[in-house]
Amino acid sequence: MSGALSSWHLHMKLFLNWLIFLLLFGLSYSSNGPDVEGEALIEILSALNDSNKRVTDWNSHFVSPCFSWSHVTCKDGNVVSLSLASNGFSGILSPSIAKLKFLVSLDLHDNNLFGELPYSLGSILHLQSLNLAHNNFEGAIPSTWGQLSNLKHL
Ligand SMILES: *[C@@H]1O[C@H](CO)[C@@H](O)[C@H](O)[C@H]1NC(C)=O
Repeated sequence: MSGALSSWHLHMKLFLNWLIFLLLFGLSYSSNGPDVEGEALIEILSALNDSNKRVTDWNSHFVSPCFSWSHVTCKDGNVVSLSLASNGFSGILSPSIAKLKFLVSLDLHDNNLFGELPYSLGSILHLQSLNLAHNNFEGAIPSTWGQLSNLKHL
């Protein structure tokens, strides 16, 4: 009787070990998958030049942006809003912004951004609100932005 019981325990233990192994394997596999929006955000932040280190919790190797990243709002697992006003950024707006295909609202007002406005932004067709005021951008608004038919606030 006790022999049968311990054999049952042994089998149960092996089964649980196997289950834990599968779980860990699955987790590491999924977290190694590329997070396109997380990587895009890292590229964007690096180009913005956050020399005052205002944004410190963005890390695409840790969790996806929709879990806990500051300044980021998601809907259905996609980044829909980026609120980065008044952070003293002194770089440029990276063309990688267009990788955030589901972006509805982008606020970068009151920074020291310079350079030209990216053409690629014209492909973010969901964009409704765009605030780039009080920066040092140069040049004209790219013609591609004419495609932004949902834009209500510029
Ligand atoms: C980032 O900004 C700082 C402060 O404005 C500046 O000194 C530095 O050269 C900039 N870095 C790049 C890569 O533009």
